[in-house]
Amino acid sequence: MADRYLRFAGTAPGRFLTRRLGLPQPVPLHRFPPGRPSLGGGLLHLTAGKSALDLAPVLARTDLPADTGAPAAVVLDATGVRDVDALAEVHAALHPVVRSVASSGRIVVLGSPLAADDHHQAAAQQALEGFVRSLGKEIGRGRTVNLLRLTDAGAAESTLRFLLSPRSAYVSGQVIETGAAPRADVDWARPLAGRTALVTGGARGIGAAVAVTLARDGARVVVLDVPQAGQDARRVAEELGGTALALDITAADAGERIAAALPDGLDVLVHNAGITRDRRLVNMPAERWSPVLEVNLAGVLRTTDALLGAGVVNRGGRIVATASIAGLAGNAGQTNYGASKAGIVGLVRCLAPHALAEHGVTVNAVAPGFIETRMTAAVPLLIREAGRRMNSLAQGGLPADVAETTAWLAHPASGAVNGQVVRVCGQSLLGA
Ligand code: NAI
Repeated sequence: MADRYLRFAGTAPGRFLTRRLGLPQPVPLHRFPPGRPSLGGGLLHLTAGKSALDLAPVLARTDLPADTGAPAAVVLDATGVRDVDALAEVHAALHPVVRSVASSGRIVVLGSPLAADDHHQAAAQQALEGFVRSLGKEIGRGRTVNLLRLTDAGAAESTLRFLLSPRSAYVSGQVIETGAAPRADVDWARPLAGRTALVTGGARGIGAAVAVTLARDGARVVVLDVPQAGQDARRVAEELGGTALALDITAADAGERIAAALPDGLDVLVHNAGITRDRRLVNMPAERWSPVLEVNLAGVLRTTDALLGAGVVNRGGRIVATASIAGLAGNAGQTNYGASKAGIVGLVRCLAPHALAEHGVTVNAVAPGFIETRMTAAVPLLIREAGRRMNSLAQGGLPADVAETTAWLAHPASGAVNGQVVRVCGQSLLGA
């Protein structure tokens, strides 16, 4: 279902009318076409507080030329902000330049982890979160603002590259934390070459886009979907030179059957399959509750346990699960779905450190907001329009936006990203 309002708002009369009427003014986002991989402008590197971060070598590798005029990207290193006084330097750094940041540009504020024993540092660093989220809501013109808390600039390179590229077009108002990780020697053009990825629910929608994107990045992709979607799964697999696996993820032996199909193991496991059976709780029989918890959560837990336990996920592997903003904010009519997706957040946060320590595997989640798929095309018009506009970018996301975020989490250089839940929601007004 095409977003006609977005197209109209981009015409001269549309711009005039939407401005006069105080209506949302979405701009078409600059996404990632292979021919135009960079933001198309320069990078401005600013600092607030006394930073000890060695950022310059990493920023030099982003392919963004230095730019102090009308930058496409601004990186503000605020890792050294330790008290309220230093927050004035955040204001002083960004206040003069914020107007000049190009459309679809990026502002990335770098912060430090919150200190457990210094409440002035913790207050100042937490302040950056409110700052970033507020700036994201007011900046407009397809520009995004995110906070990256880091300790090691080298280990955060894949994350910085993602946030400073068109791949993160629909990721805004997010707080991401990266730790330390051994340096990975990667081919940035085809980072997943030689790796195998499995995408559940890959026959259509977001899953198909994830499969295509991981294949673009070099992975051999296995497209898993229920037998009824076999034809679509085979078509997607054929297009990207992968294979299809007809399997219901809730089958008791799903883990064993996946293992049997992957004799050389698996490097990237994407739990994308998901269903909705909406009804308010008062009208929801158990028959609508159970399948949603079974597909969206129990199946994910069972297959993860089986594949990790049997050593099918190779060391250096990546698990990316799919949550939803409905699981973070709650949504009327979705107690079953919201519960299942919040469960994914619990699973990711708890399992991440153990999976890394015991198996060398990271575990993260994407939490999509309103994404233009068949699922959301079926939503009644008014609710659909509200879903599209109620975010800082005033439009829906595309399956490719979730796919690019998944590809960043699946990246061999993303070993320092673990236990994160990253919303791909254009900074939806729903939830934190
Ligand atoms: P979709 O309905 O278009 O695709 C889901 C795919 O999963 C289908 O191909 C389906 O056959 C497959 N599937 C369902 N049950 C399965 C099972 N038991 N075993 C194997 N495969 C199964 O959905 P869409 O929109 O692409 O969503 C993908 C994921 O993203 C889901 O987890 C969904 O909950 C989540 N999500 C989607 C949002 C959106 O706006 N579209 C928003 C937030 C989250």
